[in-house]
Amino acid sequence: MRRLWFCCLIILVASTAVAGCAKRGPDREQVNPGEKIVLKFSHVVAEDTPKGQAALRFARLVAERTGGRVEVQVFPDSVLYKDGEELTALEENKVQLIAPANSKLGEIFPELQIFDLPYAFASVEQAHRALDGEIGKKIAATIGKKNLLVLAYWDNGFKQMTNSRRPLIYPADFYGLTFRVMMNSNVLEEQFRSFGAKAVQLPFNEVYKALASGMLDGQENTASNIKSKKFHEVQRYLTISNHGFLGYVVLTNEKFWHSLPEDTRKILEETMAEVTAWERKEAQELNERDLAEIKASGKVKIHVQTEEERQVWKKVWEPLYDQFMPVIGPDLIEALRAL
Ligand code: LMR
Repeated sequence: MRRLWFCCLIILVASTAVAGCAKRGPDREQVNPGEKIVLKFSHVVAEDTPKGQAALRFARLVAERTGGRVEVQVFPDSVLYKDGEELTALEENKVQLIAPANSKLGEIFPELQIFDLPYAFASVEQAHRALDGEIGKKIAATIGKKNLLVLAYWDNGFKQMTNSRRPLIYPADFYGLTFRVMMNSNVLEEQFRSFGAKAVQLPFNEVYKALASGMLDGQENTASNIKSKKFHEVQRYLTISNHGFLGYVVLTNEKFWHSLPEDTRKILEETMAEVTAWERKEAQELNERDLAEIKASGKVKIHVQTEEERQVWKKVWEPLYDQFMPVIGPDLIEALRAL
């Protein structure tokens, strides 16, 4: 019996020594809770969307690269804060990262409504030229005046029109219908009004119910938002119009950001840049996949806008550029036109 005990002891000591020599990867359990930095990332869309996926990827890479010292907790689907609450939560440092649609910052930073101007961008590449160039820089500088810091511009993609009444081919087809628009954008309201429709601002998490109950006739969104929130199941018609670009401003609280140790900030910023490049590709793929799935579901009748129809919509919307020039600023509108 004594011999058996002795053998067990030898085996235990030997295995402990081997484990001690093994190269240890980041061990999250080993991080002293007092030293851990937690960033809460709140957003309003589903996880299976460009923004949802990118937030999760950012969290995973940051955990790996900081050995678990920094934890990014992602709260999707408005579970923590919904539209209209996110920005205040960030200002009060209750969350440290948000990524609202450009339009939703339109009340505080009216310049951002430039992205809502119909047919502002002919392609995603053109939108990137705006975001990564003069327009994006000017907007970041304006936002920076309010203890907020722009970390990146993420994509969703181009919006499409849906409704439950009739095919939307010409502006007259919108007449008398009620559409949901994103919060805080007067440009989006005017976009529908100029087609004779009504526009109602509504938080994203309330849209499905409003469409399903018939309170609203239609809405505009990207394929990934339509599919992930099942809007196509409560709408009968979808027009592929690519009339508006939906992008996001990834924001943090500047004071919080600069309170972080410099090496940590560097890792976060480098990871954000890498995730941004990944997100932009992923956004295109996800939207293509989701549009194909919407088509395959057979739940909506799809109309692909022709060039002739596009010109008719464009002509009715053209005056919005002059109308909103004083709000957005002539320099930004000029920079947009120069693209
Ligand atoms: C919407 O409210 O329709 C979208 O902005 C949601 C989102 O963040 O993509």
